[in-house]
Amino acid sequence: MITFDAEKKLFWLNTSGSTYVLHVYENGDLLELYAGAPIPCDDLRALATRPRCASFSPADARYADEHFSADTAPMAYATFGRGDFRPSAIAAENEDGNLVTELKYDSHRIYAGKPAPAGLPHLYTLTDGDASTLEITLKDPYTGLTAILSYTVFEALDALTRSVRVVNGGDKPLILRRVMSLCADLPEMDYDLITLWGRHDKERNFDRRRLGHGEQGISSRRGSSSHAQNPFAALAKAGSDEDHGEVFGYNFIYSSNFAFTADCDYNSSTRILMGIEPTGLAIRLAPGEAFQAPEAVTVRSDEGLGGMSRTFHKLYNRHLIRGEWKEKKRPLLINSWEAAYFDFDTDKLVAFAERAKALGIEMLVMDDGWFGRRNDDTTSLGDWVVNTDKLPGGLKVLVDRVHALGLKFGIWFEPEMISPDSDLYRAHPDWCVHVPGRVNSVGRHQYVLDVSRADVRDALFSMICAVLDETPVDYVKWDFNRNISEAGSASLDSAHAGEFMHRFVLGTYDLQDRLTKRYPGLLLENCSGGGGRFDPGMLYYSPQIWTSDDTDAVERLSIQFGTSLCYPASAMGAHVSASSRTGYETKGDVALWGTFGYELDPVKLSAETQALVKEQVAEYHKYYDLIRRGDLYRLICPWDDVRVCAWSFVSEDKTQALATVVASLHRHHECWRLRFKGLDPAKTYRDEKTGETYSGAYLMRVGFNMCNKLHDGQSEKWYFTAE
Ligand code: GLA
Repeated sequence: MITFDAEKKLFWLNTSGSTYVLHVYENGDLLELYAGAPIPCDDLRALATRPRCASFSPADARYADEHFSADTAPMAYATFGRGDFRPSAIAAENEDGNLVTELKYDSHRIYAGKPAPAGLPHLYTLTDGDASTLEITLKDPYTGLTAILSYTVFEALDALTRSVRVVNGGDKPLILRRVMSLCADLPEMDYDLITLWGRHDKERNFDRRRLGHGEQGISSRRGSSSHAQNPFAALAKAGSDEDHGEVFGYNFIYSSNFAFTADCDYNSSTRILMGIEPTGLAIRLAPGEAFQAPEAVTVRSDEGLGGMSRTFHKLYNRHLIRGEWKEKKRPLLINSWEAAYFDFDTDKLVAFAERAKALGIEMLVMDDGWFGRRNDDTTSLGDWVVNTDKLPGGLKVLVDRVHALGLKFGIWFEPEMISPDSDLYRAHPDWCVHVPGRVNSVGRHQYVLDVSRADVRDALFSMICAVLDETPVDYVKWDFNRNISEAGSASLDSAHAGEFMHRFVLGTYDLQDRLTKRYPGLLLENCSGGGGRFDPGMLYYSPQIWTSDDTDAVERLSIQFGTSLCYPASAMGAHVSASSRTGYETKGDVALWGTFGYELDPVKLSAETQALVKEQVAEYHKYYDLIRRGDLYRLICPWDDVRVCAWSFVSEDKTQALATVVASLHRHHECWRLRFKGLDPAKTYRDEKTGETYSGAYLMRVGFNMCNKLHDGQSEKWYFTAE
């Protein structure tokens, strides 16, 4: 998968469908010469130099080649201050106070397998044969700063990961002001930038715009990956679409501040950067100290966005999601939030569980409101002690009753938060994130608990364990309902204040790591006011993430379509709720795309709806493997047609397919067809509902006439099996 041509100093990295070529130029600079469809090992060295803009792109005075300038060359890890005026990957402030950084090739090694960056979420391999890694060590000859770049290519998937470890190999302190994880080069700029923007209740909307000259991109400075921008971006070749054309997809395995930048400079090439958002970043490295940057993933596809998504889904299902629940069938759950909000007690929850059991539901989740004096959202975060007014006799009484019914039991926490009105805050006012002397901003009446501190984490972890040790709990929903302002810690001196945001998320990772190790059977679901932390960092700890607080089936279409660009169905928390815009059939069909569950008062359901729920439960089981292991094909996307959406899952051997269509709005008297994708044209498929048979070619090329078939809010689905 990775070879080195020592004579030409070319590194060849091959994934299942792409080639990436790196080169050590004669002056020691590391260049990225090629990224694209597979090519043989030709001599690509002529790609090292690009026309420079006369005297305005500096040349390296030590070398004779007057055409070479770091300002125009395809730098593989661009440094700040030595004549490359594009945005840089790294800038280290040295003791003199300047940020000039230069990195020259020192050594490399190639090995089977993949490194595991300590304390950070990352892709992993099942066997060393799954992936190969190239590690290139670069050094700054002036300061001793050392950057070890890791490139891992996967054997069976078209994916490449990059990360960097920076070591202060000098004898004076350094401060990292920028340290991006991915720096890549595309020789053209005829790409569209695709990103996923959103807000609470409206996450991951599709945005597609043409690249222009200059810097463009997305970022988060919220202390979470955020609702506003997902740490995902794609560059899609002009003219490419859902099924055709070249697309590069980028995703950052991190749950805090991030930036993705595409910079198109004066010679119309594109530099791509992805990594920790550098505003305020200051990572102090004493001599010998090291900093590990998070991993960034690149997926390349020649089959448009659809091909890219399918690779991401396989990659994350196989190499990111971990633990018992990676393969084990997840329980079909009912969550108390929309059914009861803060207004519940043991008897009410047991009544939910009894009815849920009769409907075939497998787990009851008690959401917010079970602890401290939490009867609304103004109080008690941090007081993780059961409210025995609501749960008389404690948690065990409730859990025993639920377990006795044959249901699993889950519970909600929001560990990284503290209410000003809490015993915890009164006892430890310095345990919240704050800047001394400044008024702390509130979000949903709460402050953020300073989990960058080990002592705070230990105390918090003991509180959580005290609850979970009282009685076996099967599932935890881990929420995060505000972003981080006044980002400071009472435990950090001024020299390390610029590390706070990173230390905070490392604290979160540490807590989730400890939780999942201590309770290996526990199913963890991350959440952040709906889908505000739907990122691959979180997915490393929890195999599923709550996608959005908006559970309306029509609203969910754009949310789930957007989420599916990068994240698999197995990860996408999706529930049927009582929201009234559509009937229960459509709600069920939309939620079936994700983890599936209910978010309503089951006691209030009519007999008719209960019968439908039972059918949906049966469908959940029937299609479980197909949806989780099959390939997703987006048939009609909301960004192409706001009125109708359709998607399908096709088994890898193409013998089964489940296709769903939902009309947000009736396409009145319009003649339109639903054409399927991903089937085998030569196979004959039977439509389970009608018994009719069709060739795969017919279904994909002719399709079904849908004229006047679906009215506002209606859905239909087809299950095909190959004869
Ligand atoms: C967030 C979550 C909801 C629910 C509430 C509880 O908004 O996304 O699902 O858990 O918090 O306060």
